[in-house]
Amino acid sequence: MTDANIKALVEKSFRHFHEHPELSYQEFQTTAYVRAELEKAGIKILDTGLKTGLVAQIGRGEGPVVALRGDMDALPIQEETDLSYKSREAGRMHACGHDFHTAAVLGAALLLKKEEGNLPGTVKVIFQPAEEAPGGAKVVLDTGALADVQAIFGIHIIVHIPVGTYALRSGAVTAAVDTFKITFRGRGSHGAHPDMGLDPIVAAADFVGAVQTIVSRNSNPFAANLVSVTHIQAGNTWNVIPETAFVEGTARTMTKEDRQLVEARIRVLADHLAQAYGESASVEWIAGPPATLNEEEWTGFAASVAKESGINVVQAPWNLGGEDFAYFLEKIPGSYIQVGIGDTYSNHHPKFQVDPGFLYPTSEYLAILAKKALVRLRK
Ligand code: NI
Repeated sequence: MTDANIKALVEKSFRHFHEHPELSYQEFQTTAYVRAELEKAGIKILDTGLKTGLVAQIGRGEGPVVALRGDMDALPIQEETDLSYKSREAGRMHACGHDFHTAAVLGAALLLKKEEGNLPGTVKVIFQPAEEAPGGAKVVLDTGALADVQAIFGIHIIVHIPVGTYALRSGAVTAAVDTFKITFRGRGSHGAHPDMGLDPIVAAADFVGAVQTIVSRNSNPFAANLVSVTHIQAGNTWNVIPETAFVEGTARTMTKEDRQLVEARIRVLADHLAQAYGESASVEWIAGPPATLNEEEWTGFAASVAKESGINVVQAPWNLGGEDFAYFLEKIPGSYIQVGIGDTYSNHHPKFQVDPGFLYPTSEYLAILAKKALVRLRK
């Protein structure tokens, strides 16, 4: 395949993925498409047992090993753009650029295949399912296919950064995303006889106010922590004090220590506020992905390879969103590189759209990055 053919295929594939979005763990057609293109190029696909997504391997299976990751899933959103390649699936849309990621990484695989004989090691190319679930990264890790990987790189589009610019940062780029669900249990009674009951709404309301002191009083003022109560439910009429009150929300933190602090404080506040009113609280803590921690040296390396390729590099903004690439970076050093797509609606918006101007250059960059990372590991 000539470079021009690869470029045309990458651009065509992006439009194809955009037209045919599939939700998390349902990426069957996308996987089949990628598999077919890889097989046509003679690229080896590893036997991982993944139901959707796949891991391909380029190189002779010796020497250092690096990995590239592109996620494949779309969102349950009805697309409202005027694109000629607008989604053909009702209620489903690539509104987070994963169509771009899949196409870019496919292009990188094809470019690397051309140089397979000269590769100073092995490149594993991950087409990951269910980033939005989240947790597809964990499913890929659990296959064991990445056990020998020494460095990993992932891309994600970023809005409001110009096309042709990458945004990078070492350290935490996105937050640990945890959920808490608390049930305050009191004793129901007639609305006119609060003395005969234990009102769980009072404890829940106190909790909603007090929980903000975790950020304002317990956290380092320079730390980027966040707690939001996003769902409250209690009672269903005007003259009955209910038995329980339910409070749900999200906690976002950038370090392991802050993550532990916030969880511990939420538990203490819920328990003790409930106790103060003679009630009880049960706290369910659902841990999501950890913070995405870009390793310093590989991030500097990824930035310098970008600059050598004529790509503009800026400091990535902090973001308290979540990203399941964090699971890979928990086990393997590497970097999460954000690719500017210019000004558009925010990701997950029905009018979101990617400027594909830097799609093929991103394939070229990823291929060069993987190759140079192998050289670096060899030294
Ligand atoms: Ni995304």
